[in-house]
Amino acid sequence: MSKQKAFIPVAGIREVVDPGSMLVEVDDRLIVLIHAAGHWYALDDVCTHDGGPLSDGPVDSADKTIACPRHGAKFDLATGAAVTMPATKPTVAHEVKIEGDQVLVRLHDHA
Ligand code: FES
Repeated sequence: MSKQKAFIPVAGIREVVDPGSMLVEVDDRLIVLIHAAGHWYALDDVCTHDGGPLSDGPVDSADKTIACPRHGAKFDLATGAAVTMPATKPTVAHEVKIEGDQVLVRLHDHA
């Protein structure tokens, strides 16, 4: 088993409106940080259909998804699962925690 990575502060809790998202870089990896319905999520900023930037797509806090701006595939905010076509594979979901007024992310390597 690989060593668990540390939580890294990526933003202040007031920097992302609810619902909304923000592109952040964590260890040279582009991550879309998402605030929706009072919860926080972090996904790789990569649509598994054809690499579209999820951070440019709309967040739906009712069905807890973010949609790719290129062809509309939706991904589950918590798990990264592809929930609508044309994407079929999950993107990678990362762990998020709040400490004080900071949002921290711990990277996961795989979906
Ligand atoms: S690149 Fe995201 S749906 Fe096609």
